[in-house]
Amino acid sequence: MKFIPTFLALSAAVAHLAQADLIAPALTPVVPTPISFSNYTLEWKSLSTIVENAAIYRVFHAKNKGSSHGKLSVPHPVYQTLKDLADEAVAKPLYTIVNKPFLPPSGDKRDWLSYAPYWWPSPSCNATDKNNDCAFIQMDGQVNPDVYKLNDQRYLEYVSLDTETLAMASLVFDDDSYGQKATDMLRYFFLNNATRMNPNLEYGQIIRGNGKSATHIGRAEGIISARALVSPIRAVKILQLAKARAWKKNDTAGMVDWYSQFHDWLIEDKIAVDESNTKNNHLTYYTNTLTTISDFIGNYSTIESRVTAFFKDDLPGQITANGTQPLEEIRTLPFHYSAFNLEALTYMANFVSQKDPLSHGPYISNAWNQTGDSIISAVNRLIDVVRGTEGQIEPGADLSEADYSVRAVGIQYPKLYCNKYHAIQNHTVPYLNLWPLWTPRLLWDCFN
Ligand SMILES: *[C@@H]1O[C@H](CO)[C@@H](O)[C@H](O)[C@H]1NC(C)=O
Ligand SMILES: *[C@@H]1O[C@H](CO)[C@@H](O)[C@H](O)[C@H]1NC(C)=O
Ligand SMILES: *[C@@H]1O[C@H](CO)[C@@H](O)[C@H](O)[C@H]1NC(C)=O
Ligand SMILES: *[C@@H]1O[C@H](CO)[C@@H](O)[C@H](O)[C@H]1NC(C)=O
Ligand SMILES: *[C@@H]1O[C@H](CO)[C@@H](O)[C@H](O)[C@H]1NC(C)=O
Ligand SMILES: *[C@@H]1O[C@H](CO)[C@@H](O)[C@H](O)[C@H]1NC(C)=O
Ligand SMILES: *[C@@H]1O[C@H](CO)[C@@H](O)[C@H](O)[C@H]1NC(C)=O
Ligand SMILES: *[C@@H]1O[C@H](CO)[C@@H](O)[C@H](O)[C@H]1NC(C)=O
Repeated sequence: MKFIPTFLALSAAVAHLAQADLIAPALTPVVPTPISFSNYTLEWKSLSTIVENAAIYRVFHAKNKGSSHGKLSVPHPVYQTLKDLADEAVAKPLYTIVNKPFLPPSGDKRDWLSYAPYWWPSPSCNATDKNNDCAFIQMDGQVNPDVYKLNDQRYLEYVSLDTETLAMASLVFDDDSYGQKATDMLRYFFLNNATRMNPNLEYGQIIRGNGKSATHIGRAEGIISARALVSPIRAVKILQLAKARAWKKNDTAGMVDWYSQFHDWLIEDKIAVDESNTKNNHLTYYTNTLTTISDFIGNYSTIESRVTAFFKDDLPGQITANGTQPLEEIRTLPFHYSAFNLEALTYMANFVSQKDPLSHGPYISNAWNQTGDSIISAVNRLIDVVRGTEGQIEPGADLSEADYSVRAVGIQYPKLYCNKYHAIQNHTVPYLNLWPLWTPRLLWDCFN
């Protein structure tokens, strides 16, 4: 699959900001450089299905003891893939954001930092310290290589993917070493005072320099990176289900405390409020992140108010009757952004179909088919676009970008999708190949 240039989604609002702040710079290429900065997909993973599939492996393993040539004897190749990825993760260093080469404006390296990608010191500025003493201007699509010197987003995504993989391995293989490594990684990134990340994204995508455009605090669009905070929550839940010995009650309490502070930041901080006032994929991701965190910390009223507002006020503007997503199709990469938003919408449909502990019903009824077809028809449209029956909306559009969304709707409506669509079997991002673990076994063959 192509690397998902999700990074581009981070710079969604850059263009109109530039017009407001500055005289348009001479260099303004239309198509942004398709750099890959993020592999992270927000994917719904049913815990009960993961538990069922772990049991399938254990029953099989009990009957077929022993292995040959260092390979597991497995009922499905996904278990070997899981073991390989977990073994790799065990050998990895612990991730922390405190070793970055630049200090955030707060002076605390535990604060997350990233730079707005398309912003450069003005070429007409002759100061010696161009990064601090020049005005920065936007050159859309031209990435300032300084962004690659900051790994905070990358490390958050690594800790998300690896802890979740290790937690699943500890459950499937009942092996303490996986649970221990997941625990060490989570403690190092979130809990130990010296190495933890502070619970905010105050300095995401800052614009440097001394010009009028300089923000010195982060920008709202940088908050979309917070979607990678969903997986560590799932990792904690799976470690608890696996009864991992290393993971203690006070670790869970520490995580709940971290996420409670982040919850408050997401609701109260000015840039977070700005992000919550967007309408497109930024709002979808914001809502998913906030509601997943709220569920973890037990604030169900936050969930009710946010998802009710989303389905009532925002979803109808995101998907038209024919399944197009107009707010995404106006962008430079219409297929990419449509798939990216849909990924978040299918996650949300699963999330809100859960039981609300306050009202005892689902948070939202009929979420997949809210306005006649909505999410379902948006998925169908992407399939049709790739098959060429709906006209091209982006050169080279590739269904692997929408693989997760198509499979997610397929799990909901197997009668409509079974054997009509086959999942991508060989993603270059290996974590994506673990999908059978959270797909009911009866449907493995439907998408194989
Ligand atoms: C995305 O995944 C690929 C394949 O595993 C890897 O080579 C690349 O470095 C990853 N990109 C990021 C930003 O992590
Ligand atoms: C730098 O630019 C300023 C203002 O444009 C000008 O006054 C100054 O002479 C320049 N200095 C050098 C060393 O070019
Ligand atoms: C926590 O770490 C910070 C940054 O390293 C340090 O300034 C502070 O004194 C530490 N607090 C405690 C209680 O150890
Ligand atoms: C949990 O308890 C242990 C042992 O008392 C302590 O070392 C650790 O710092 C505690 N962790 C948290 C997150 O409070
Ligand atoms: C939940 O969050 C809201 C903000 O959305 C806050 O007003 C309320 O006090 C919180 N409730 C609990 C139980 O923490
Ligand atoms: C889908 O519907 C929208 C709004 O009604 C319309 O603007 C658009 O042209 C339609 N697209 C297709 C491919 O039919
Ligand atoms: C979605 O709802 C529409 C209108 O109620 C209905 O015609 C359609 O069959 C539903 N689609 C699915 C997949 O249930
Ligand atoms: C998947 O891709 C990798 C790397 O391109 C390749 O080595 C491997 O043989 C492929 N596996 C399958 C099942 O196609």
